[in-house]
This record gives sequence, structure tokens and C-alpha cells, in this order.
Amino acid sequence: MKRNLFLSLIVIVILGLLSACAQQSEDTLVVATDATFPPFEYIDEETKEIIGFDIDLMNAIAERAGLDITYQNVSWDPLLAGMADCQYDMAISAMTITAERAKAFSFSDPYINAGQITVVAIGNTTIGGPDDLVGATIGAQIGTTGAMEAEAIQDSAVKVYDTYELAFLDLANGQIDAVIADYPTAVAFVNQNADRLMVVGDVFTDENYGIAFCMGNDELISQVNAALAGLKTEGFVDELVVKWYGDAN
Ligand code: ARG
Repeated sequence: MKRNLFLSLIVIVILGLLSACAQQSEDTLVVATDATFPPFEYIDEETKEIIGFDIDLMNAIAERAGLDITYQNVSWDPLLAGMADCQYDMAISAMTITAERAKAFSFSDPYINAGQITVVAIGNTTIGGPDDLVGATIGAQIGTTGAMEAEAIQDSAVKVYDTYELAFLDLANGQIDAVIADYPTAVAFVNQNADRLMVVGDVFTDENYGIAFCMGNDELISQVNAALAGLKTEGFVDELVVKWYGDAN
């Protein structure tokens, strides 16, 4: 009799553990990111893992808020569309908080400020900043604030690319006159191509990055904002700037 009771108890405990596991994987939140954007999210050449400022930040937020997350690498343009369709729970992708995007999905509080800057080929003596871009052929990643800024320049011919890497490649090869990109990312690509590319002029927009959420997930948004606030106060976000920007700050 005692033995039966003991066995039943074991069975109950095992069943409990199993259902806890099932629960766990059901609750895993999918975080979309376009891992082509150093230093925020990119693929580590050696480990093939997604790394960067945003990944460190998101991991720290998840740990603090007790969230179980998994990353999905999605190209930028489909990532924006997918967020609007709630295909992913969240996205962290150096995404500028804009009024237009906020109509399609929700944002966390801002976590960092970054603006646009101009990059040209070394030896270019005519373009010294955004004011010299009138009539120029300008490259940017499709659907980014950089592409929008390029469009806004008088008589510009804008060439959009699936990734910034391709835009900078075309610039290095003399196919386009300039690239407009987020400052820290511009510096990261220029550093990879220091003999061919250079940053010119000043940062000319004021943009804040936020984590994106499927619209209406208010409980998750407040959990993430609370964790983010704690990490900011404790100086963790500043530490990430030092760790990932190097000389770009
Ligand atoms: N901050 C810019 C924007 O929101 C560019 C972001 C691109 N991010 C990326 N992971 N490709 O439009």
C-alpha cells in the first residue's frame, strides 16, 4: 500500500515537471532581429551566433523580467511587415521609434539615441556632409530612416539595398556617391573598410531606438519597460555603449 502511494507520488511529480516544461516552451517569446547591423546585431564570424549591443540588452531584460526568449533572424523589410502582423512577439533591431511605425506596432521606452550620418568614398572632395547631397546618388537599407532621409534630399537618386553591407560595398566600388546610415553602424562599416570609406559631416537627425512589440501586448511592454528602466539606472546600458561602440561615442 505504502509502496503504491509512493509510486503515485512519483508519477504525479513527473507529470507536473513534464507539463511545466511544455508550458515553458509554449511561453517562449520570439524576438525578431535583422542581424546585419553592427554593432547592434550581427553574426559572429567564428561562432555563427547573433551578437551585439541589442542582443546583450535583450538578454539582460529577459533575465530580469523572467522572460523566456528565442531570436529569429529576419531581414529588415519583412521584419517590419511581420511586426505589423504580430508574427513575432518582439523585435530588437536598432529600430528608430517613429510615429508612422507606432501606428502598426508598439514600442518600449527609448533605450539609446542615434542619428544619421553621411559616408563617402575616401578621396571624395565634393561631399562634406548632408548639405552637399543635393542631386547625389545615395544608398541605404530599404525601409530604414536612412532611406527616408535620402529620399528627402532634393533631386536625390536613392538606391535601396536589402542590407547596409551591400550599400557600403557599392559605395566602396564607386557605384553610388554616398550612404546615409545610423552613426554607430556607419562607423562600424567604415572601420571594416578604413582604406576606402570615410564618415563626413555631423549626425543630422535625432532618433531613439525602441524594442518593438506586437500591438496591444501591454503587460509584456510594461514588464520590459520596468526591466529596461532598472538596467538604465544601474548603468548597464552605458556599459554596453562602451563595450560595443568602441570609438563611435
Ligand atoms: N535605425 C534605423 C531604422 O530604424 C535603421 C535600423 C536598421 N536595423 C537593422 N537591424 N537592419 O530605420
